[in-house]
Amino acid sequence: MAERSAAPGDPYGGRPPTSHERRSGQPWDASYQDGPAPWDIGGPQPAVVRLAARGGFAGSVLDAGCGSGENALHLAGLGLPVLGVDVAETAVTLARRKAEQRGLRADFAVADALRLEQLERRFDTVLDCGLLHSFDGEERLTYLAGLAAVTEHGGTLYVLCFRPGPDAGPHPVTEEELRAALTAVPGWEVAALEPERSETRFHDNGAPAWLATVKRS
Ligand SMILES: C[S@@+](CC[C@H](N)C(=O)[O-])C[C@H]1O[C@@H](n2cnc3c(N)ncnc32)[C@H](O)[C@@H]1O
Repeated sequence: MAERSAAPGDPYGGRPPTSHERRSGQPWDASYQDGPAPWDIGGPQPAVVRLAARGGFAGSVLDAGCGSGENALHLAGLGLPVLGVDVAETAVTLARRKAEQRGLRADFAVADALRLEQLERRFDTVLDCGLLHSFDGEERLTYLAGLAAVTEHGGTLYVLCFRPGPDAGPHPVTEEELRAALTAVPGWEVAALEPERSETRFHDNGAPAWLATVKRS
């Protein structure tokens, strides 16, 4: 897949800004330019480590919104072929550097998860750790349709996203909202929806989260 080309100085790399970027007034890349981002805990999410330990990941893996790559690199370290994509070029550069430093084979690309068909690839397992909840309602539907197009039938999508509760993280999603998005798009069936925690740099015991296991029908 070719990397995007954009007009010089375009902080969005030639794509429309997402709803999150329009609200915050900043491209996602800005979160990576001044030290670790709030969600960048310097290692994989414990929930992802547990999922992997119980054999949750198989075949080729897409990490959508991979950030600086810790989850993808954890899976690569288990021998899985992984592609991590993110709109933040700085995050992708960091991820590639870590892969090289750790001697791990993992691919990272600057790509828009709202245009996943452009990858022209299919995956057996997809991880979304903190991306879906940043999208508004329309974007979630576009994203899930694109994910369906790049996920093999019988494949699995895991979504770890913030849920409401004490000390909630940004963009908390109610169970109803999450189920509504996951069932609105043909090709997905919710297999499990469990309360989880999602670690951040600012929560002692993680923030309340959902872990959704969704099967590609
Ligand atoms: C909350 S962070 C989580 C990063 C990473 N998954 C982790 O657990 O550290 C959300 C990530 O999604 C990326 N992102 C946001 N919108 C995106 C889009 N449309 N396509 C691809 N990545 C996107 C951001 O740049 C950011 O790295």
